[in-house]
Amino acid sequence: LDNGVSRTPPMGWNTWNTFGCNINESLIRQMADSIVSSGMADAGYKYVVVDDCWFNPNRDSAGNLQSDPSRFPSGMKALGDYLHSKGLKFGIYQVPVDKTCAQYFSSYPGATGSQGHEYQDAQQFAAWGVDYLKYDWCSPNGSIDDQVTAFAKMRDALASTGRPIVYSINPNSIHEKTGPMRNWGDVANIWRTTEDITSSWDTGQTNGYPMGVKNIVDVTARLAAYAAPGSFNDPDMMEVGIGSMSDTEMRSHFALWAIMASPLIAGNDIRNMSWATRTILTNSNLIAINQDTLGLQGVEIQNDGTRRVMVKKLANGDVAVALFNQGNSATTITTTAAAIGKSGSDFNLLDAWSGTTSSTSGVISANVPAHGTVVYRVSGGSALAGTSLVSASASRCLDD
Ligand code: GLA
Repeated sequence: LDNGVSRTPPMGWNTWNTFGCNINESLIRQMADSIVSSGMADAGYKYVVVDDCWFNPNRDSAGNLQSDPSRFPSGMKALGDYLHSKGLKFGIYQVPVDKTCAQYFSSYPGATGSQGHEYQDAQQFAAWGVDYLKYDWCSPNGSIDDQVTAFAKMRDALASTGRPIVYSINPNSIHEKTGPMRNWGDVANIWRTTEDITSSWDTGQTNGYPMGVKNIVDVTARLAAYAAPGSFNDPDMMEVGIGSMSDTEMRSHFALWAIMASPLIAGNDIRNMSWATRTILTNSNLIAINQDTLGLQGVEIQNDGTRRVMVKKLANGDVAVALFNQGNSATTITTTAAAIGKSGSDFNLLDAWSGTTSSTSGVISANVPAHGTVVYRVSGGSALAGTSLVSASASRCLDD
């Protein structure tokens, strides 16, 4: 969406994955403080997104949204002011239908969705200083056309406020269930590609609830052609630092989100994250690959069911290569400079995890642990004429 924001994937933190509905203003202020003191803000994590359950179940007499008076007694304007005073940005959750997901599925009281209140709510968000709206179609009803209409209405309502607001949508988790997913780049800055993530490597399903990291990668890798500055596939908020995936799996999760130009929205409790989690989330080599200004998603050029290779062209001519082993034992994964679109005979490989460099005349290879992902930033040589990693991906999408 060409609305001036999210030219690279948004980075931030969201309440949902760890706290669900158990949120309040002091928790969010503490998290904001920790995002700054831990170095997360300096690493790029700026949007603090208050997900479902922040609101009073009743609108006021003029139909305006209100925050829950006991958990957010200072109100949302004050919370936004606090975040802004810390150099952070303010995100909030709402739905285009009558009920939020918690109202629909978890008996949170009320029916405070934006349906019929779109322009009023957009004005309210702008007045509170909101910089990011997560807008979630939480209803089993509604055709794809209904959804396009409803999501476009809030897009226009946000634009009418004049405030730059990142627009994040979840189109009913329709995703690829009903065929190739619609490209939502005309409607939103980021759009969910799957059902909700959970802290699992593999839940064994690609269109059910919930989804593991590998399952989400399977779906999202096919959609690379949709990504562009202002418009990115959203494989959901990260589970890095939550639950019991291994350190190798947590690293793969982050590396794959990085190379897929995915939003990097942490979901762990930043106040007490481990050093290992912090090291993953603040890896500057991977963040630079994710935030590259070309805004391309890594294209999968090799997948034999075990060994997978994704390639992301970068603005300075470098190419990022992820060697992803989805198998259950260590294996060597190999590609070449020519296969990633480079000509020449002298290349430098920066290993994004270790920070070490090596050189190669063309072979790009690593022994990768089970469920692991090695990422190299490849420099040197020049672009091969006629190689378009973007169109390779587009045709793959059409073929599916
Ligand atoms: C849906 C979304 C989640 C979260 C919850 C809140 O399930 O996909 O990301 O926002 O609603 O209820």
